[in-house]
Amino acid sequence: MKPTLLLLPLLAALLFLGDAAFPDCEPKPCGELTVEYPFWLGGPNHNQSSSSSGRISCGHPAFEVWCSDDGVASLSGTQILVLRIDYSSSSLVASHKRIADGNDGVCKTDFNISSSVVLSPFKISRSNRAICFLNNCNGTEPRGFGLFNATSGGCAKPVFAYLGGSYDRENPPRIPTGSCTYSYQPVLGSAAPANLTAATNYSRLFKEGFLLEWQRNGFGDCAACNASGGQCRHNNDTASFACLCSDGELRRSTCAGEYHLPS
Ligand SMILES: *[C@@H]1O[C@H](CO)[C@@H](O)[C@H](O)[C@H]1NC(C)=O
Ligand SMILES: *[C@@H]1O[C@H](CO)[C@@H](O)[C@H](O)[C@H]1NC(C)=O
Ligand SMILES: *[C@@H]1O[C@H](CO)[C@@H](O)[C@H](O)[C@H]1NC(C)=O
Ligand SMILES: *[C@@H]1O[C@H](CO)[C@@H](O)[C@H](O)[C@H]1NC(C)=O
Ligand SMILES: *[C@@H]1O[C@H](CO)[C@@H](O)[C@H](O)[C@H]1NC(C)=O
Ligand SMILES: *[C@@H]1O[C@H](CO)[C@@H](O)[C@H](O)[C@H]1NC(C)=O
Ligand SMILES: *[C@@H]1O[C@H](CO)[C@@H](O)[C@H](O)[C@H]1NC(C)=O
Ligand SMILES: *[C@@H]1O[C@H](CO)[C@@H](O)[C@H](O)[C@H]1NC(C)=O
Repeated sequence: MKPTLLLLPLLAALLFLGDAAFPDCEPKPCGELTVEYPFWLGGPNHNQSSSSSGRISCGHPAFEVWCSDDGVASLSGTQILVLRIDYSSSSLVASHKRIADGNDGVCKTDFNISSSVVLSPFKISRSNRAICFLNNCNGTEPRGFGLFNATSGGCAKPVFAYLGGSYDRENPPRIPTGSCTYSYQPVLGSAAPANLTAATNYSRLFKEGFLLEWQRNGFGDCAACNASGGQCRHNNDTASFACLCSDGELRRSTCAGEYHLPS
């Protein structure tokens, strides 16, 4: 066969990929972050047409990142800020805007991050440590078991803190609570102090964030698709992973696998 004949399918494929049929999903920057599959840039500051085209999207709906003008990334514009993404370990460091912003976060600890609906499909890693807070005690705060007065100058009401062990959503630290509002927050294990002291800087801990993990398997084997020469996409119609191959076809897993034509 002549070399030119061999080149024809390749040229056809390049022309097809150049078509607007599929979104361009080059990794995109947001501040210090590189946003790529299963994440994708959406939201009001972003031109949707470059992230999705009809049914094919650059990432999974749950992994939509909004990027503010000053380069702050959040999960779909919520209070969960994305500080770092580690694609190889399918984890990210996030913080909660309510307590990470400013220097009076400790006064606003009367909620559980674990009940944020937006966290799904992310899980708060057990490598975090849990810090419990007691708010609105109104003088009923219990004493004598390592509870620290964490009230900062900015707080209208007293706040008390207790440093627990490994963060476990199902088993938050059990401490006496008086008639206080009990909550527990994850902080990075590497940032947590050995013990709370009067000098503990809660604002710094909240700004450093906590580790979230996602199940790599649930969102397709992007590495295998990529290794087979494909690009990772999400098919919104079938709510499943799609591997876009150099022949312009979408396949279910890798470019060596079965055809899975959009219909
Ligand atoms: C969005 O993308 C479309 C298609 O590439 C382009 O025509 C349009 O000008 C873009 N709009 C903005 C606001 O960037
Ligand atoms: C936080 O979660 C714990 C354990 O589920 C619960 O007992 C507590 O009432 C929650 N606090 C708030 C403020 O919702
Ligand atoms: C808090 O304490 C004050 C003064 O003792 C009392 O008037 C108020 O009802 C208490 N509030 C609650 C919610 O217990
Ligand atoms: C806790 O600390 C705050 C600020 O230093 C102080 O105003 C408050 O009286 C303290 N409360 C208790 C119960 O020690
Ligand atoms: C932390 O607290 C434990 C138990 O109260 C104590 O044994 C340990 O010495 C403390 N560590 C530091 C670094 O203060
Ligand atoms: C606590 O940490 C924050 C953020 O790193 C910093 O701006 C602030 O000055 C620290 N506060 C104290 C009392 O060290
Ligand atoms: C895909 O592979 C290329 C190199 O072949 C690499 O630069 C890129 O980061 C990979 N992307 C993903 C999502 O693994
Ligand atoms: C994908 O599906 C979700 C949920 O069904 C929908 O909200 C979103 O707009 C869809 N995106 C595209 C690009 O069709």
